[in-house]
Amino acid sequence: MALPSGFLSELKMRCDITDVVSSYVNLKRRGRNMVGLCPFHSEKTPSFNIYPENGSFFCFGCGVGGDVITFIMKIENLDYIEAVKLLANRAGMSMPEDSYDDGISKLKGRILEANREAARFFHSKLMSDEGKTAQEYLIGRALSKQTVVRFGLGYAPANRYALCDHLRKKGFKDEEIVAANLAFKRSSGKGIVDRFSDRVMFPIIDLRGNVIAFGGRILTDQKPKYLNTSDTLVFKKSSNLFSLNNAKNTGLRTLILCEGYMDVIALNAAGFHNAVATLGTALTAEQALLMKRYADEVIICYDADEAGQKATAKAIDILRNAGLIIRVLNIPDGKDPDEFIRKNGERGQAAFKNLLESSGDDVEYRLTKLRQRHDFNRADSKANYLKEAVNIIANLDSAIEQDIYSSKLSEEMGVRKDSIVEELNKVKSSRRRDFAKKEFRKVTSDLTGREEKLNPQRRENMRAARAEEMLIAYIFHNPDMLKKAEKLISASDFVTDFNARFYKYIVEQIGEGLSPDLNIAQDFTPEEVSRFYSIINTYNSQTATVGAMGEYIDTIKSEKNKLSKADLSNMSPEEIMKNIYSKKPKK
Ligand code: GTP
Ligand code: MN
Repeated sequence: MALPSGFLSELKMRCDITDVVSSYVNLKRRGRNMVGLCPFHSEKTPSFNIYPENGSFFCFGCGVGGDVITFIMKIENLDYIEAVKLLANRAGMSMPEDSYDDGISKLKGRILEANREAARFFHSKLMSDEGKTAQEYLIGRALSKQTVVRFGLGYAPANRYALCDHLRKKGFKDEEIVAANLAFKRSSGKGIVDRFSDRVMFPIIDLRGNVIAFGGRILTDQKPKYLNTSDTLVFKKSSNLFSLNNAKNTGLRTLILCEGYMDVIALNAAGFHNAVATLGTALTAEQALLMKRYADEVIICYDADEAGQKATAKAIDILRNAGLIIRVLNIPDGKDPDEFIRKNGERGQAAFKNLLESSGDDVEYRLTKLRQRHDFNRADSKANYLKEAVNIIANLDSAIEQDIYSSKLSEEMGVRKDSIVEELNKVKSSRRRDFAKKEFRKVTSDLTGREEKLNPQRRENMRAARAEEMLIAYIFHNPDMLKKAEKLISASDFVTDFNARFYKYIVEQIGEGLSPDLNIAQDFTPEEVSRFYSIINTYNSQTATVGAMGEYIDTIKSEKNKLSKADLSNMSPEEIMKNIYSKKPKK
């Protein structure tokens, strides 16, 4: 069900795109537009543009674009109606009557309700007699009642129907319970069984306070040790972090990144509320960008074992790419932060604080690891170490950082700083050449790749497609010219079906007296919306005149004409094949 246009117009008017985006991205003015670092991909120079004039955004780096509603959908990971609700709330508007809620967003709402009810159920079970063993387990892991309550920890009973029965009594349907991944269908096909049984339960809570998933730990040495909710309509493992809801409120702009739930909880109990953890998977670029919204600095605090150290090296790259400052903490005593704090007993908090304060940055960490791999008693080893160290230093963005580490390296190895700097410059200039080449290739191939995936007819009909796009942009920016254009051309004259859809759409919107992109987020997929704004934001008011409009129309029509002359019905099968596969535009 569509939302009333009057409501949407007012919403878009009240939610200025610059204001809304500013609460997520640092924007700077550039001419009539605003630019900033794209929140949807990692970049160091801004290619994320805001166009206040038409209320849209577009990123030239990753090709994402849209209006204020699609921005909220993407950044908050919401569907269309949820994004509209969030914006309406922000603007102090109430939503129109309930008819718009479609099946998917209703189901999402039910999943969240079921999760919340499940969290309550697990928690009350933990506090009851049935939860005795689980309570003892948590006490054994040095968790206080206060911490248990703060994290809403719970216990999933051993009886594999306990939660299903409870949720049914509360009015949830089997399909809803399964969609929440709280239960699955029995293999016999009859009825459903709880996903979690006889486990300590850790609710995962998003930034709006919704319970979106659970992690469950077994009380014994059995496997699997942890069982997590699989991805559902409301939960994507790779784009959430455990306890970010707590960590974002410390006002510190520093996050401590751990491997496990128990590390985060132990750190919280010791007073470090800015700890977060990935949900049993390797750190993703999405999670790094999410951290960037709440922090400038991340302290990696992974397990001391080999797996943890490998993961650290990977995390450093991902976090650096997101523009975060990195420190790496080494745990000297015990395998992870949880064990370290417990082992140090009453001194746990102070001892961990010490570790935090003495943790070095990521470059020191890498150089230390590199040093450990080299045996300086061997002659060639020193030269090898120097070479690899210079490679690490050459990766740094800041000239000051490079200078500091070159000095350190020179002192450490007893080599003149001049020769280190000379080596460094060599590496840097050869890298610059490679990078420029690669970057150029990547940008051009990304761009055409994206365009062609959406509009497969574009490559073979480049001239027509370009003219169609210019016409769409022109009419978008000059809706008063539509009357004139309509006398000369209609969507059915377009060569590419994809552009024809856009054209038809804006013609209809303008015909109804609406802003041409009013409903765009509702009627097109996110990729299509991005493409739409990429088309309309290439508009140049200087070159786009009424005369130019006539030329676009002529081009489209003559290209169409060429195609229809090659009328397939009069051809032999061989000719048809030949025509289809060599339809290159004639120069
Ligand atoms: P404890 O033994 O309870 O202290 O666990 P830990 O936090 O030290 O766990 P570990 O370092 O083994 O693993 C870190 C994180 O990886 C956990 O918090 C889980 O999120 C995840 N994980 C560990 N084991 C499993 C598993 O068997 N299955 C899945 N899906 N995730 C796991
Ligand atoms: Mn542990």
